Amino acid sequence: MVLIAPSILNSDASNLAGELERISNADLAHVDVMDNHFVPNLTWGLPVVEALVKRKILPLDAHLMIENPERWAPAYAEVGCQSVTFHIEAANDPLRVIKEIKSHGARAAVALKPGTGIEAIEDLLPSLDMVLVMTVEPGFGGQAFMSEMIPKVRTLRSLLNKENLEVAIQVDGGISAKNIELVAEAGANIFVAGSAVFRSDSPSAQVSSLRDLAQGATCC
Ligand code: DX5
Ligand code: ZN
Repeated sequence: MVLIAPSILNSDASNLAGELERISNADLAHVDVMDNHFVPNLTWGLPVVEALVKRKILPLDAHLMIENPERWAPAYAEVGCQSVTFHIEAANDPLRVIKEIKSHGARAAVALKPGTGIEAIEDLLPSLDMVLVMTVEPGFGGQAFMSEMIPKVRTLRSLLNKENLEVAIQVDGGISAKNIELVAEAGANIFVAGSAVFRSDSPSAQVSSLRDLAQGATCC
């Protein structure tokens, strides 16, 4: 199962619903929430995300780059995001956050910054629906893909296969037609792409071609 989740971080913030319409053939819309503490950038918060959920244009995939996910993450599930991802580096009680997200009917995920190893989340894998492997330092769109993250994706996929766990692997950061096959072949199956989609002349055509490339390269 390959899913394409365009990030609206660098889309037109004055017209987010209109931007979602431009990618209506995507599987999910990836919404980056930044608090200017966990990362040195600030975007939007719960009211904006809730308003977008209500428009029912696409299911939302919330990526929380915030401190204190214990306090904030469950609310994103409660307002109707399809999946809620928080950073393991920011969490004191990750299992509690995962359980609360799931109790509101959303899929629960943890994200790993490039410098964080898989061992940080190994114990959580049986409870998770998805792991987000960051392929740039979180905080900004338009950065270069870190190819050194490919072995991390491959190792995580082998571990999940060995344990017989059906957990999705999402990659986020610098994903484009140039590298999507490499990460798909390594075992990723949910692909976030911000600038590759929104800086193209036709975002929806770009979504389709990224999907075709990933489907052609998917390993397992
Ligand atoms: C970065 C965000 C990404 C970003 C991706 O911190 O998490 O979702 O929007 O944008 P590109 O694809 O341009 O790297
Ligand atoms: Zn993101």
